[in-house]
Amino acid sequence: MTLWSGRFDTGPDPAAFEFGISFGFDRALFEDDVAGSLAWAEALGAAGVLSPEETRAIIEGLQAILDEGRRDPSCVSGPDEDIHSFVERKLVERIGDAGRRLHTGRSRNEQVSLDLRLYLRRRIPALQRDVAALVAACADQAERAGAALMPSYTHLRRAQPVLVAHYFLAHVAALRRDHGRLAAAADEADALTLGSGAIAGTSYPIDTALLARRLGFSRVVRNSMDASSDRDFVVSFLYAASVAMVHLSRLAEDLIIFTGEEHGFFELADASATGSSMMPQKKNPDPLELVRGKAGRAIGRLTGWLATMKGLPSGYNKDLQEDKEAVFDAEATLDASLRATQAVVSRLSLNAERTERAASGLLLATDVADYLVARGMPFRRAHEVVGALVRRLLAEGRDFSALTLEEWREASELFGDDVSQAATALASVQARRTPQSTNPQAVRVALEECRGWLAALEAGGGA
Ligand code: ARG
Repeated sequence: MTLWSGRFDTGPDPAAFEFGISFGFDRALFEDDVAGSLAWAEALGAAGVLSPEETRAIIEGLQAILDEGRRDPSCVSGPDEDIHSFVERKLVERIGDAGRRLHTGRSRNEQVSLDLRLYLRRRIPALQRDVAALVAACADQAERAGAALMPSYTHLRRAQPVLVAHYFLAHVAALRRDHGRLAAAADEADALTLGSGAIAGTSYPIDTALLARRLGFSRVVRNSMDASSDRDFVVSFLYAASVAMVHLSRLAEDLIIFTGEEHGFFELADASATGSSMMPQKKNPDPLELVRGKAGRAIGRLTGWLATMKGLPSGYNKDLQEDKEAVFDAEATLDASLRATQAVVSRLSLNAERTERAASGLLLATDVADYLVARGMPFRRAHEVVGALVRRLLAEGRDFSALTLEEWREASELFGDDVSQAATALASVQARRTPQSTNPQAVRVALEECRGWLAALEAGGGA
């Protein structure tokens, strides 16, 4: 028995009915559906649509269904078409005819959107906590690295020396934007749809502003037609999840490279690696590879959902049912990937000797050019002088540290005997001046600021 069988002579074709059922996955909205119905019953009671007795019976019935479902999630099951039909069936079974009045003035179109909005507002904070935990793991690595130096890369070629701490804080900066994007998705979901009816609005005098407050929404949707098919908040969530996955994928790629034999900058903990069934020496970074791979899956959920939405005429269409699996899958993918990445990062050990060796040598060329600029040479000219010097050193298989003062002076008269101190990785990072730079003092301030951000989240209950 469906919620709509009255209009039909025959029951639905089993294959077609099976095809349309969403209960297999929308049971995840159980709590949200009951929460919405509890508030709707109160609103109908306040509007005089339900008698006080009916209102009480419905509320008690729904509360009992909620308690039972929480105690034993396996009882949220049955032959029902969707979670809304399930809750209504259970209510009628418990309290009889009064249960049939609950759906007065309401449509599943607004109800399903409400449920998903409540769900995201409930679940996004958990993802944000995962993001914060990964930020904390990166901050711990930054702290532990202290003054250790490493090369930074552009085009995956050695560029300039940076502090290892600066490297970890670079990923922190991206992750903090993800935290903000998740907050923005939760904000977008923050609008009450009830009162929209199937599409044209409801004809009962419902106090929607009160209902919104009761359900923790800061506003009511602007237009009932738009509300019945608006899933922009789903797009925003899938977008936030996709960008976060892209960031995790890039961090994973870095660590796959940096923990490999060729770099050896970090050692993966045994607990974060897997072996080969054939090659006994192998220590593979499987969790990182899987995170990188799953980014494609999250992006697929976003693009798939946009493709589903683009052809829809105004108003609710059944296509919209596809939103839920996209949300649940993106959520589970991001949650698992954040946890796996956090586990790997927190157990990484730094090989500072390797990173520092890689941070010295010809990647100090910009600093040598800056030395000449500080002594009056135009930068373009300095670039040429140092370029020629680099060419010579490469041909001879040497680097700046091997040059005698005479050799320096052959390249330019402006070089003095202080050049050997200027051309070190430590002097290079100390020479940076801006707050966002790898200057050790700036990095210390950035790390403190990050700790402050984490502490504020914790104090606010957000992390
Ligand atoms: N299972 C449906 C969905 O997820 C619920 C809304 C059904 N509304 C309707 N008019 N068939 O979108």
